[in-house]
Amino acid sequence: MPPKTSVHGTWSTRWAFILAATGSAVGLGNIWKFPYITGENGGGAFVLVYLFCIALIGIPIMMSEIMLGRRGRQSPVNTMHTLAIESGHHPAWKYLGIMGVLAGFLILSYYSVIAGWALEYLTKASSGDFAGQTPDGIKTLFSNFIDDPKHLLLWHTIFMVMTFIVVARGVRGGLEVAVKFLMPALLVLLIILVGYSMNTNGFGEAVEYLFKPDFSSLGWGSVLTAMGHAFFTLSLGMGAIMVYGSYLPKDASISKTTFTIAAADTGVALLAGLAIFPLVIANNLEAGSGPGLIFVTLPLAFGQMPYGTLFGSLFFLLLSFAAWTSAISLLEPAVTWLVENKNMKRVTATMTAGITTWAVGILTVFSFQDGSPIKFPFNFVGEKKENGIFDLLDILTANIMLPVGGILIAVFAGWIMSREASRDELEMGEGNAYKTWRVLTRFIAPALVCIVILQLFGLLDPIFALFAPIIDLFSK
Ligand code: PFF
Repeated sequence: MPPKTSVHGTWSTRWAFILAATGSAVGLGNIWKFPYITGENGGGAFVLVYLFCIALIGIPIMMSEIMLGRRGRQSPVNTMHTLAIESGHHPAWKYLGIMGVLAGFLILSYYSVIAGWALEYLTKASSGDFAGQTPDGIKTLFSNFIDDPKHLLLWHTIFMVMTFIVVARGVRGGLEVAVKFLMPALLVLLIILVGYSMNTNGFGEAVEYLFKPDFSSLGWGSVLTAMGHAFFTLSLGMGAIMVYGSYLPKDASISKTTFTIAAADTGVALLAGLAIFPLVIANNLEAGSGPGLIFVTLPLAFGQMPYGTLFGSLFFLLLSFAAWTSAISLLEPAVTWLVENKNMKRVTATMTAGITTWAVGILTVFSFQDGSPIKFPFNFVGEKKENGIFDLLDILTANIMLPVGGILIAVFAGWIMSREASRDELEMGEGNAYKTWRVLTRFIAPALVCIVILQLFGLLDPIFALFAPIIDLFSK
């Protein structure tokens, strides 16, 4: 039998959970990653696939993950173990939890390095470094910075220490308060930035770029990236939302909560896109320039706008906070597992998990320099570039581990858990809402993820060939 409440604590209210889960979801993924992968994958069609994935895969899986967490009330590893036994299945389901803990480690290792960029840019913005800079000047500022591993390592270390401190004190203490004020502030600032971008001459073209799909340029590699990003941005597939769900009071509605989180997360990503692409277009920058995109476009805007130093500092401050509240949730599954299974105190568990992640992060620190020794000569699907350790970790976690973890969560919630159990837990009755969730979770979400993954290896080519005449008919 799972425990009635988690030994690690409970959120004070449903809102506390919504804020914490939104804090986990809204992070670098929305503001840093979404714009640059949209630029790398050609805009509109990619955005549309991403939105589909949020609706058809992300939302049902988020409901499933919260539900499993609240029912199991332990670390993802023990939650899966207990729930599998409870429903008469093999305890090997706990390996799903273990994969999640591992994915969390790997993601946090590079996430922290990029969060370090945000911290560095906070100092640059507040010392007025962007004022009056040309696009080339800003690009040089960025490339000099990422060429300097010592500097990157310093910020990575500072960010990891910040993450330790909150996690060691228990998620509830610091996190609830931080998220309550900072998330709304970030939203306001993004809206101000969109307002600024609306007045540049690139706005109309940017809206078209983001929302007018051109499917001719969309390969399966891009579809996988869009799907992987739906998992990444909603923090799904690795147990982060499951642990947060394990602290959720019994009387909170899982479906309403999920919609609120998904809407906030998607809204922030789209606002970030609307703030950034007009600047890219107006300044003739390269949309597909990769992970440095926001660190080049936004400083340009801050350098030109009135009160740019103030807005720039606030923006990078809030971005750092958004990254912080996400990083905490990346570490939490590992910490709860160490506390439960290795009998560690919370502080020791946090140190153990944190130091390991920090050490793995050093690999990412060394992967951005020109001529960096750590390069992989092989190409991933649809890519023609040399991959550094950062690309490798990103693809492995976001595009493979999270979707695979997500499918398994869906399979567990839809097929292993009894209908009665999921209906009770979701409290939606037997109405259409529950039926839709169940169909999406049992069939649609797993099938879509499988299709994308199989097609990456061209395994579905014969089937698509059968449909080719119909597809041709529609594309005429
Ligand atoms: N959702 C976070 C973001 O968009 O920045 C990243 C993340 C947090 C991914 C927690 C996965 C996770 F479990």
